[in-house]
Amino acid sequence: MHKTGAAEDIVIYRTADLNIGYCKACDYCEKNNGECIIEDDMQKVLLSLTECDTLVVITPVYFSAMPASLKAIVDRCQCLYAYPKQYAPKKAYILAFGGSSLYDGQFEGIFASFKHVFKDINATLTDSLCIPDTDSFMNETDDIIREEIADFSKNIYNNRQ
Ligand SMILES: Cc1cc2nc3c(=O)[nH]c(=O)nc-3n(C[C@H](O)[C@H](O)[C@H](O)COP(=O)(O)O)c2cc1C
Repeated sequence: MHKTGAAEDIVIYRTADLNIGYCKACDYCEKNNGECIIEDDMQKVLLSLTECDTLVVITPVYFSAMPASLKAIVDRCQCLYAYPKQYAPKKAYILAFGGSSLYDGQFEGIFASFKHVFKDINATLTDSLCIPDTDSFMNETDDIIREEIADFSKNIYNNRQ
């Protein structure tokens, strides 16, 4: 979400649809003002990550972490870490879904990784919602869960800067 909060200022990225290569630890960014040598969709994602005022990460749990398409984005944030700049403060939110019933550490990998990204872009984790057991839902429109997600989303929108 960008400054005005108007609908047209909400940018949605579906990670599976993006063309984003893997960080190769070439250190080009460290020596080149934080620029990445790989030219792909990450440039526009980086612009959104650093310039937004609200960031919402929505992800399923894969092997107690995140899907590879999202992890590729996290890893490519190395250029923000290697060449730190001061960005405007922003709010961050995580909405995560796990197929298994709740177990120890089910969502921890996601939070551990994004802790670093949020620090690099000057974002504060403001709220999160983790929903386990999604694989056993009888249908996708489970009312209680739907309401929980709707409330979570409304709060994000109402708390925008
Ligand atoms: C490759 C893969 C790995 C998964 N690993 C986990 C896991 O470690 N823990 C868990 O709770 N669910 C796991 N799941 C289940 C997903 O978190 C669950 O199905 C999720 O709701 C999928 O979200 P989606 O319907 O948006 O794709 C895994 C699913 C896949 C496909």
